[in-house]
Amino acid sequence: MKSAKPYIEKNKDRFIDELVSLLKIPSISADSAYKKDVLKTAEAVKNQLKKAGCDTVEICETPGYPIVYGEKIINKKLPTILVYGHYDVQPPDPLDLWDSPPFEPVIKKTKLHPEGAIFARGSCDDKGQMYMHVKALEYMTETNQLPCNVKFMIEGEEEVGSSSLEWFVTRNREKLANDVILISDTGMISKDVPSITTGLRGLSYVEVEVTGPNRDLHSGLYGGAVANPINVLTKMIASLHDENNHITIPGFYDDVEELSTDERAKMAEAPFNLKDYEASIDIDSVYGEKGYSTNERNSIRPTLDVNGIWGGYIGEGAKTVIASQAFAKISMRLVPDQDWRKITELFKNHFESIAPKGVRVKVKPHHGGQAYVTPIDSLGYKAAEKAYEATFGKTPIPQRSGGSIPIVALFEKELKSKTILMGFGLDSDAIHSPNEHFGIWNYLKGIETIPQFYHYFTKMSS
Ligand code: BES
Ligand code: MN
Ligand code: MN
Repeated sequence: MKSAKPYIEKNKDRFIDELVSLLKIPSISADSAYKKDVLKTAEAVKNQLKKAGCDTVEICETPGYPIVYGEKIINKKLPTILVYGHYDVQPPDPLDLWDSPPFEPVIKKTKLHPEGAIFARGSCDDKGQMYMHVKALEYMTETNQLPCNVKFMIEGEEEVGSSSLEWFVTRNREKLANDVILISDTGMISKDVPSITTGLRGLSYVEVEVTGPNRDLHSGLYGGAVANPINVLTKMIASLHDENNHITIPGFYDDVEELSTDERAKMAEAPFNLKDYEASIDIDSVYGEKGYSTNERNSIRPTLDVNGIWGGYIGEGAKTVIASQAFAKISMRLVPDQDWRKITELFKNHFESIAPKGVRVKVKPHHGGQAYVTPIDSLGYKAAEKAYEATFGKTPIPQRSGGSIPIVALFEKELKSKTILMGFGLDSDAIHSPNEHFGIWNYLKGIETIPQFYHYFTKMSS
């Protein structure tokens, strides 16, 4: 495969403009007010896949948002790569913390991105990274270099749990048959330290509700005499960690995969500067489970975090009140071989069991998924390694990520193939946060590296 660099150089302004157009559509899957925009984005992705060289493209209806499917089959005997990505984005809130509106993309230079970065919701997660694959396909078809078959499956519900994708995959195993799954929806260590994500954490997401009296009460007349749901909820949540920051739910760690001393030593070799890490998010110290390093805490260890908590009076001034109810949303990040359904059950049983007299507690499971690990001796990993060597001139470092793409474990179960996570984002890209951005260098580097993967994967498969 020839280097895509000259083609990218010639077309980069258009590549950027096309991504900018896609980013202008607010495809927020969590908020039904944006339904039209989510559907419009699917349509736009479909049209671009067609233009880039797919022979068939379709919008596949599901019980939720549609899946955009496209394929180019050049020879049934050649390997098939299935590209997965998502066209939906996270809500942009809080809006007032954005320096420019989230759906009016602007290009700005930053310290890490002297070539400029595109600021917009979804620029990195995942429209920008997904679109690298569309442009990589364009390059290969326009220059007659596509070495194998390719299928695209781009969904619109990743940020809300991918429930329709599960529905779709289990009904379309034949159509989705492939030799390897390729995803760009993760990050890398830094621009000069390329890495390939070899693991994703699983997830169990629950909402809890504590109900006390049948109405909000005067906190003077009743205070001290009835259980205050907010007091109770915060105390229950606090009890979920012990003084060493271990999670106290009985059985929580039973199935956790323990890494060997060797594996942990290997992990510790990846470049990491604790002071820079702390400075980048403005904290004076890290915090976490005793006995583990920061990189272990955020990748190979399970966690429990409150994502939101509410109840009572939060308006201006003071109101003396004991709220009738208190609520929290809680996520648990899981590792191999924890089962998310089992963990959800353990949480539910434990949380209900620690409720004091005087309140009722409800646990409502949301969604979840299993953790995933890619073996580094697989054909796909080796091909990816070669691809990075070709475009970065360095061997990429395998790195387990703390994030989750719950559907990846399901792909392996249903489609029997390995997933390769070639992410080009940086931690500083602020995905899910205000001022999300994606470096133009990263965007173009992705477009350059992906065709090399196609080349090496095809070559090594024969
Ligand atoms: N692309 C992210 C996941 C990710 C980002 C993994 C960076 C590794 C590195 C994905 O869109 C995401 O946000 N996933 C959610 C889970 C989902 C069920 C909402 C997450 O990890 O919180
Ligand atoms: Mn994503
Ligand atoms: Mn995301």
